[in-house]
Amino acid sequence: MMGAMTKNRIEHVCTDCGTTHSKWAGQCSGCGQWNTLVEEVSVAAVPSIPPAGPAARIGDVDPHASTPRPTSIGELDRVLGGGLVPGSVTLLGGEPGIGKSTLLLQLMASFPGTALYVTAEESAQQVRLRAERLDAVRPDLWLLAETALPHVLAAFDDTRPDVVVVDSIQTVHDPALGSPPGSVTQVRGCAQQLVNTAKQRDVPVVLVGHVTKEGSLAGPRVLEHVVDTVLAFEGERHHALRLLRATKHRFGPTNELGLFEMAGHGLVGVPDPSELFLGDRRTGIPGSCVAPTIDGQRPLLVEVQALTTPAPPNVPARRTTQGIDSNRLALLLAVLRQRARLPTNEHDVYASTAGGVRLAEPGLDLAACLAVVSAMSDTPLPADLAAFGEVGLGGELRQVAHTPRRLAEAARLGFRRVIGPKSAPEPDDDRLRLLRVATLPEALAVAGLS
Ligand code: TYD
Ligand code: MG
Repeated sequence: MMGAMTKNRIEHVCTDCGTTHSKWAGQCSGCGQWNTLVEEVSVAAVPSIPPAGPAARIGDVDPHASTPRPTSIGELDRVLGGGLVPGSVTLLGGEPGIGKSTLLLQLMASFPGTALYVTAEESAQQVRLRAERLDAVRPDLWLLAETALPHVLAAFDDTRPDVVVVDSIQTVHDPALGSPPGSVTQVRGCAQQLVNTAKQRDVPVVLVGHVTKEGSLAGPRVLEHVVDTVLAFEGERHHALRLLRATKHRFGPTNELGLFEMAGHGLVGVPDPSELFLGDRRTGIPGSCVAPTIDGQRPLLVEVQALTTPAPPNVPARRTTQGIDSNRLALLLAVLRQRARLPTNEHDVYASTAGGVRLAEPGLDLAACLAVVSAMSDTPLPADLAAFGEVGLGGELRQVAHTPRRLAEAARLGFRRVIGPKSAPEPDDDRLRLLRVATLPEALAVAGLS
């Protein structure tokens, strides 16, 4: 395994990206973050060399050796491009409480074959209780409550698993590495040994990595280069919706979006997100506009809401956003003021996406503008109208990617008129009328807001 020499020296390691510095500095030269360097005694670990593999004729290489095995969790398989590849290591990162342990226990419950769940954070009893709630108690699911890495590796021999979860990588430690649990040296050293073991045994391993704002634990970024796949699990704390994305994936695309809802009996896949997002929509209310957006490959109809109130004199108007980038909103309000001559500066503006979905997509611009003007003028938009397109600084409406998919999704959910950029292609569905406009003022006129 890890051949570690005993030449100790002090290093300054960035807890965010893992760059080592010989001297302390306020800012990490690797990632530019401030105050992320911590002192670590590094046991100058010599990276272990995996067993030698002989060169092979290309025709003799098995092209299906990295075929993914479906996990039987549809939304997870979607993001992974089919499932978990044997011998690969996947890191599941996310804030504490977002649902990482829940998702992985569900994975362990349904993955075909023997499963080994290493809990280095919660007790075996706690995991057992949760497993009951998730209906995950089955004879070939093995539980190991352990933090010492050598014991974790030994359990691979004892249980001969087809899949392994280590929850979390920040709480396992290898006594041979010297530095304290949770340090960059530990996290990286333990992950490297798990990577080697996964490869040797051809078993998929999933590591949990907490992302914390304080940076007291070595974050998942220090592991990005060590693992094959990095998944990010996100969501707003007070909403049930959870988004899963691959930020690195050696075996497939990184642009697929998986959606779950946290329910009383665990995470449930959301096959029809547009329906979920529009479920609580009230029509005929000013300050609301639906946008057909795209996340990865997935069309999502999202309602943008805006509320405006007169700003008190002599103080800068307030701009508060949720789910929308606040700088983007500020830009759109400036364009509305300069290009459509609307006094946005005299209004406090609150804007959000319904359902807690966070979107950074230029296709949302036009709907955000229409929602704001609808709120300012107290004029609701027609219930069957949606809008999409990027708004330029000149007030022009610009083309965005995947227009046919956006239009098809709008038509499927009952929208009959969509305002879009003038170069947008004709929709496939003849129930839908595409209203092409060149500028923001034109869009306001078509929407009945001017
Ligand atoms: P958890 O998986 O422990 O999060 P993480 O491992 O990322 O820290 O999820 C914790 C939250 O999920 C907790 O607030 C309770 C909630 N939860 C449910 O709502 N339903 C469930 O069935 C389970 C198991 C958890
Ligand atoms: Mg957990």
